[in-house]
Amino acid sequence: MGKKSLISIGDFSKEEILHVLETAREFEQNKEQKFLEGKVIASLFFEPSTRTRLSFETAINRLGAKVIGFSDASNTSQSKGETLKDTIKMVSNYVDMIVMRHPLEGSSRYASEVASVPVVNAGDGANQHPSQTLLDLYSIMQTQGRLDSLTINMVGDLKYGRTTHSLLQAMSHFNPKFIFTSPEELKMPKEYKTFLDSKGIAYEETTSLEDHLNDCDILYMTRVQQERFTDPMEYERVKDVYRLSASMLTDVKENMKILHPLPRITEIDQDVDDTPYAYYFKQAENGLYVRMAIISYLLGYR
Ligand code: CP
Repeated sequence: MGKKSLISIGDFSKEEILHVLETAREFEQNKEQKFLEGKVIASLFFEPSTRTRLSFETAINRLGAKVIGFSDASNTSQSKGETLKDTIKMVSNYVDMIVMRHPLEGSSRYASEVASVPVVNAGDGANQHPSQTLLDLYSIMQTQGRLDSLTINMVGDLKYGRTTHSLLQAMSHFNPKFIFTSPEELKMPKEYKTFLDSKGIAYEETTSLEDHLNDCDILYMTRVQQERFTDPMEYERVKDVYRLSASMLTDVKENMKILHPLPRITEIDQDVDDTPYAYYFKQAENGLYVRMAIISYLLGYR
């Protein structure tokens, strides 16, 4: 395999997605597999992160590779005016792979074009977050026993929520039905609905969280992405639009699971954590196994 990057979930075929999920399952059973000793991987986070950065860095360590990088670009020569192109060209001379989060949409694709090593997009603006998608798929597979023919209810900020955009594309391989629950201001962008239309995939849009709580298999909650708003007043208007509480879950499907890429703000009450439907903390743990599998696959080891 030549240099292969993961920038959009569309970069992986259905077969590659299923391969990564199967490898992740093996890593969950055996977390210590240090076959990347001698490799160095860069973790470049130009935007804040807890889970993605720490799980990637843990994955790198568990595979036996070394990690270099930064979690605050203000401490790098970007603050002196160095371009992203120069940073990436230079870092790619040091390492075997680059994991990068950046606020600009398209920045990861650009980085993959100038880098001499594989690049993994750890989130680029409101665009894509493909490693999150793979861990979402893994979590769906683990909880539902399948990916095919499920009803996925995406709730919250569907305009700026990059995880919903990537997940929608990935699930299109598996005959899903989608519910899009959002306020008018934060509806799923037209380009993604056009994509679903072109594939003949059904979706319904609603503004009411109560409408489809009881007929979905996966309730995919998202936070309102404050950092993407240009108008703070608009954020104030929509920030608390949905609030899921345990008392709302009395008639849901028995095996319904609540996923959330996290961090959560107010959209899921803490009393939901103790219900059998909450899966978001285990979902975040799954990120470790899935990121081990992504790194192994892109470096040609699994
Ligand atoms: N899900 C996710 O991307 O979380 P972080 O922003 O903490 O990495």
